[in-house]
Amino acid sequence: MKALEGVKILDMTHVQSGPTCTQLLAWFGADVIKVERPGVGDATRKQLVDVPGADSLYFTMLNHNKRSVTLNTKSDEGKAIFTKLIESCDVMVENFAPGALDRMGFTWERIQEINPRMIYASVKGFGPGPYSDCKVYENVAQCAGGSASTTGHIGDIPMVTGAQIGDSGTGLHLALGIVTALFQRTHSGRGQRVECAMQDGVLNLCRVKLRDQQRLKAGPLKEYSHFSKGLEFGDATPRAGNDSGGGQPGRILACKGHETDPDAYTYFITQAAVWKNICDVIDKPEWKEDPEYATPEARLPKLDAIFGTIEEWTKTKTKFEVMEICNPLNIPVGPILSMKELAEDQSLRETGTIVEVDHPERGAYLTVGCPIKLSDCPADVKRSPLLGEHTDEILAQVLGMSEEEIAKAREAGAV
Ligand code: COA
Repeated sequence: MKALEGVKILDMTHVQSGPTCTQLLAWFGADVIKVERPGVGDATRKQLVDVPGADSLYFTMLNHNKRSVTLNTKSDEGKAIFTKLIESCDVMVENFAPGALDRMGFTWERIQEINPRMIYASVKGFGPGPYSDCKVYENVAQCAGGSASTTGHIGDIPMVTGAQIGDSGTGLHLALGIVTALFQRTHSGRGQRVECAMQDGVLNLCRVKLRDQQRLKAGPLKEYSHFSKGLEFGDATPRAGNDSGGGQPGRILACKGHETDPDAYTYFITQAAVWKNICDVIDKPEWKEDPEYATPEARLPKLDAIFGTIEEWTKTKTKFEVMEICNPLNIPVGPILSMKELAEDQSLRETGTIVEVDHPERGAYLTVGCPIKLSDCPADVKRSPLLGEHTDEILAQVLGMSEEEIAKAREAGAV
């Protein structure tokens, strides 16, 4: 048995944030029924197309292990079928623009009437407040949640990050909310509303930056490059380039080959506990006992110069050699791995983190498998469904509709 076997999810999600959530639940064994508009489907099916006529990688990589049913939830016949689906499912997940489901007539009050055990989970851009009506995409959330303001080089413009912390990050938060509500339902017997705002999700992931905002009152943030460069702090947490966000200073340093390879870099952390090992590796044994270098406090004003010296050493090694030398000495370093290197990484294939999937329209492609490994519930990645691939199966199996009833619904344009 899979962990979530027997849980039926009515998946009204589209684009990225909602689909990442329901994909996780599907990997853990839930039966995820993705409802899509007849003839149209999730807009991402036809976005960023690389194989003409086939579902895009954008869609396939976010919708594994689901079943697809087409249903026009705005038509009367479609609403009747949708009502039956609400009756028979445990969880409904949606990330439409604010008010879209209400406009279809399916308010939270109505959903509770139809099925009091229903867990109704939503992603929206913002929570209640001045922006609650806004449509929101990833980068808007990164900007509104504090990530862009605190990402980028010192003195340069705000930057968005490549990690989809607004979409996939909020999907992860929502998945936790859903399984928590499912657990509570085992003793309360009731469903509940689960809401995640993308702004809140991003801010949660930027927690350490709100920590630093408050620390500013106590003086300059000494671990930030600003301090060793003698720059003034303003009244908000600044952008800090590649400075470490924690108490152990770190930077990205160039490695051998960086002149031609844009990813020939390593992250290097000068963890206090292994300072002596660092001194040996970079051939600065005199720094071990020198009071100007021996303690973290003494090093803070000269971090720029110290990292410059360490970089003179890293430039003589490849990023993997830096890893091989530093790792046994407990010096925390990390090579900057490109997407190409990750796609080709054998160990990630072995753990199922990178998976090759076959698809009838596009052939084999790579995807990221389930990043959460459960010993009793391995996540087998199955290809995403074609649009409406399971419509008849779901109407018959889940709702007990006869062939005649299904044909009638199709004639009416409801499915
Ligand atoms: N049958 C009939 N109509 C359907 C349908 C179905 N099966 N599925 C969707 N629709 C309708 C909706 O009801 C809505 O109609 P309405 O505008 O008349 O109410 C319409 O399709 C489009 O929905 P909407 O959510 O407005 O899509 P959009 O493409 O304009 O906006 C987002 C996309 C992502 C900006 C928006 O959905 C949003 O802000 N979502 C919340 C935040 C979020 O998740 N953002 C991240 C996405 S990765």
